[in-house]
Amino acid sequence: MANGNENEAAETFAAILDPARRGSLYPHYHRLRALAPIHEDETLLGRRAWILTRFEEADAVLRDLRLHSDTSAIELFDTGSSGRTFFEVMRKLLLYLDPPDHDRIRGLVTKAFTPRAVEARRPRIQAEVDRLLDRVEDAGKTELVADFGYPLPIAVICEMMGIPSSDRETFLTWAHDFARRGDVSAVTSEVIERGEVASAGFRDYFLDLARTRRRKLGDDLISALVQVEDESGRLSDEEVVSTCVILLQAGHETTADLISMAMRGLLLHPDQLARLRAAPERVASAADEFIRWDTSVQISQRVGSEEIEVARQRIPAGDVLVVMNGAANRDPARFAEPDRLDLDRATASHLGFGMGRHFCLGASLARAEIATAVGTFLTRFPRFDFAEEPVFRPSLFLRGLARLPLHLG
Ligand code: HEM
Repeated sequence: MANGNENEAAETFAAILDPARRGSLYPHYHRLRALAPIHEDETLLGRRAWILTRFEEADAVLRDLRLHSDTSAIELFDTGSSGRTFFEVMRKLLLYLDPPDHDRIRGLVTKAFTPRAVEARRPRIQAEVDRLLDRVEDAGKTELVADFGYPLPIAVICEMMGIPSSDRETFLTWAHDFARRGDVSAVTSEVIERGEVASAGFRDYFLDLARTRRRKLGDDLISALVQVEDESGRLSDEEVVSTCVILLQAGHETTADLISMAMRGLLLHPDQLARLRAAPERVASAADEFIRWDTSVQISQRVGSEEIEVARQRIPAGDVLVVMNGAANRDPARFAEPDRLDLDRATASHLGFGMGRHFCLGASLARAEIATAVGTFLTRFPRFDFAEEPVFRPSLFLRGLARLPLHLG
């Protein structure tokens, strides 16, 4: 029978899932960590899951090679009669694959995302940042999410993939509808329908682009993917589509969210903003602390095919381990004064990019985009402030701001 602590932990977890409380998420994480650092729950996934909020267990679970991404989460998307295209794309995403397929596909794209390869892209990232900020400069105000946060990463990843700029508007709509379809907490028939249209759009577009690149290779990621012709390395059409989709999806919304949340973080920490203005070169190392402080990918799921033990709790095979990355990143046992954004702290080991086998492939690119975006914004706008309260999106799986209206000065 549930005791008082368990009831309180269940209520606290309900508060964490409540879309209306996105602006006050972290106190609830602290409460849950104190009450039940391994909290048993059936409300999130409709089956038994263990919610982890301490850094130590979260880190160990993500590193544990016996555990896999929770592919049964994808089965939820197999809605049959209302269409299977979204499901077909999801089940081949890198994030849900195990070796050897995972390593084979990751190995093909990883070269484009090394720190060195990203460094070579810096001038292009800077040019796009400048172009977007030129457009808002004279208005004296901006809605940062729509004007800057979103367009920047989509432009960068589309360019890397060789997607012409004229197709980007269509891509933004598909990318948005695809991401909403993946959020299990907010599925409606309209979301399903739009998700199907987006998935079919992506599939047809990428297959067509892959055919074009096979005829004439370019200097882009899709060319690199189709170039691999040997038996062991060759990607199936399905794999090409899913790999393009994950690069596009993982490569834009997360980074867009981080740019806006970093700016919100700076406005809430005027001392840090002042220090960064005084020494703008520090922005290069600040990205990880922005991500530790408030990240977009709040949840990673793992499942074991054998029983394991986590902090002396027996976890039967098939139960889901739900790693709350954001909660782990604010664990006071790991980070002193965790609620403070502190650009001087050594943050490198945070879990905002995950850990282990599925560690974020685009981490270097994300760091470069965030640093260039935030650094340039601060230099160009010596004074800026909230024009209205920021508005969070309802999603917890992919946390981010829907709106961040700012005055510019
Ligand atoms: C600040 C921005 C970003 C954040 C916070 C972020 C976060 C994450 C996290 C937490 C994971 C691991 C998920 C898990 O283990 O369940 C992940 C995986 C991944 N990320 Fe990122 N990401 C960001 C930007 C990017 C960018 C720019 C790309 C570029 C294409 C990218 C591509 C990927 C890919 C492909 C994976 C799957 C890797 C695998 O399964 O081996 N991400 N990301």
